[in-house]
Order: sequence, then C-alpha cells, then structure tokens
Amino acid sequence: MEKLKQRIAEEGVIVSEQVLKLDALLNHQVDPELTMEMGKEFARRFKEDNVTRVVTVESSGIAVAFATAYELGVPLVFARRKKTLLAENNMLCERVPSFTKGIVTDILISRDFISENDRILFIDDIIANGDAARGLIKIVQRVGAELVGAGIVVEKTFQAGGKAIREQGIRLESLVQIGSLAGGKITFAE
Ligand code: G4P
Ligand code: NA
Ligand code: NA
Repeated sequence: MEKLKQRIAEEGVIVSEQVLKLDALLNHQVDPELTMEMGKEFARRFKEDNVTRVVTVESSGIAVAFATAYELGVPLVFARRKKTLLAENNMLCERVPSFTKGIVTDILISRDFISENDRILFIDDIIANGDAARGLIKIVQRVGAELVGAGIVVEKTFQAGGKAIREQGIRLESLVQIGSLAGGKITFAE
C-alpha cells in the first residue's frame, strides 16, 4: 500500500534502531479512511478463504481488525489482556512475553467466541518478535479452529516474528515491510 508507506515515512518517529513510533496512525490516533482501506486490502487478500471470524489482541489491532471484519462481513473478536490471571471458566489463555515492553501478559479469549468450526483470520498492527501472534496462534490451535492466515499492517523484517510464523507454514500478509531503522532512516523492504 503505497499511501500507507508514505504516511509512515511522514508521520513515523524513529525511537531507536528497533522501534518506530506510529502513534499518529496506529497506536494512539486512528485515521478512519486509511484504516478502512487497510481493511479492504486484507479482505481482498483473504476473500477466498471463507473466514468466519477475525481475531486480534487488544488494543492497537482493534481498529484495522474491525475494518477487515466489516469488509468480510464477519464478527471481530479481540483477545483481552490481563496482567494477573484469575482462573476464569470458559477462557482460553496464553501467557505472552513482550520484548518491547519487558512485561508478561496473559491473553484470553472466551470459548463463547471461538470454536473448532471457525476459520480464523488473525489481524494485528505491528509484528516485531511475534510473541503476541504466537500466543494467539496457540489459542486457535488449542480450540481446534483453522487459522487461514495473518494480516499485519507493519512487519519489521529485521526482527524474527514474521519469518518465524511463515516457517510454521502460516500465510502471513503484511501491508508494509520495514527492513531497517538504522541511521535515523526508515528503509522499506521489498
Ligand atoms: P511482538 O508481539 O511482535 O513480539 O512484539 P513485542 O512483544 O516486541 O511488542 C510488544 C508491543 O510493542 C506490541 O504492542 C507491539 O505491537 C509493539 N511494538 C513492537 N515494535 C514496535 C515498533 O517498532 N513500533 C511500535 N509503535 N510498536 C511496536 P502490544 O503490546 O500489542 O500493544 P498495543 O499496541 O496493542 O496496545
Ligand atoms: Na497490537
Ligand atoms: Na502494538
């Protein structure tokens, strides 16, 4: 998505060689029109896959996951994050470390909103090391649903997440790939 690349180039703020702040587009402010276009693009790429539910993890993935679910005409389920795990009946839970934030959280989805009959499309804003995605994938596998693929807005290809997930045989589609943040410069991959 050329327009998205342009917006990232203009509005992304390099925090370090690993981290690009995207608050203006993804993590604090949302542009509804641009977000709906992202949803259209994911829906186009996965339209043959008979998706029954779009799944993301709160919070920054929700807007683009909503746009995608709207375009596909299916529900969106967002996994909840909990810092402490109180035993909750009926909840599927995975513990997820966050490299960037240096914390561990539990992500949870109720069995009421995912089942073995589902064909799941996972959507998220950014993939770095892929820990959140891996946790979500484990939940989908444990419930016996089919994961048709993952749609990620920004893939940082200099970190291992995207590659590791593709190596598991999962189809991962990213809208923009960032190859490097070195030298105070955003270098796109492809
Ligand atoms: P991972 O899930 O790919 O392993 O990512 P990691 O644990 O490293 O990242 C933890 C959080 O930091 C994630 O947000 C992820 O989207 C975000 N993150 C990672 N790299 C970048 C980056 O370069 N720029 C920005 N803006 N965010 C980055 P989260 O915990 O899912 O929180 P939320 O944004 O959904 O609330
Ligand atoms: Na996210
Ligand atoms: Na995020």
